[in-house]
Amino acid sequence: MSAGFTLWFTGLSGAGKTTVSRLVEKELRARGYKVEVLDGDVVRENLSKGLGFSKEDRDTNIRRIGFVCELLTRNDVIAIAAAISPYRAVRDENRARVGGRFVEVYCRAPIEVLAERDVKGLYKKALHGEIKNFTGIDDPYEPPLDPEVIVESDKETPAESAAKVLAKLEELGYIQASRRS
Ligand code: ADX
Repeated sequence: MSAGFTLWFTGLSGAGKTTVSRLVEKELRARGYKVEVLDGDVVRENLSKGLGFSKEDRDTNIRRIGFVCELLTRNDVIAIAAAISPYRAVRDENRARVGGRFVEVYCRAPIEVLAERDVKGLYKKALHGEIKNFTGIDDPYEPPLDPEVIVESDKETPAESAAKVLAKLEELGYIQASRRS
């Protein structure tokens, strides 16, 4: 029985993908699992350096992340991806690629809340037209139709969201139930 699987966080910029994925990573490591995180912001500095935000470049970025997730998953590592991944078809392509050992976490948050929070100052720029093709403003985001988990950073703490994800992984039998919970 393979131990690897891919945990895929999708959602708008600032919706909590990085924060929640890092908490889940930390907890899985503490429980003794081998884990790697592929975060969009980090991947774009190396594996996908030079790619922009056209549909073609985003799809390339997401396929590259999916490729690495496949390698890790088949070698019994838990691969965690955290990228906007706005297009449903390419996310589903990655799901198929890892042989269905794929758990999709939709980080859902109203765009108004994200624009108000604006941690990186990018929504302000996008709303003023200083950044074009910004996801959720003037570029599409296709939400998952049937994600395994939905987390909502405007209603839950990051710790609560991480606990939801871990509970689903236990329920699906991908990880052992924690003796602490
Ligand atoms: S994806 O669309 O290819 O999945 P990815 O998650 O790697 O995106 O990168 C998104 C990050 O790039 C955002 O969190 C933000 O910091 C930055 N960024 C810069 N320009 C854009 C843009 N036009 N749309 C979305 N994010 C952008």
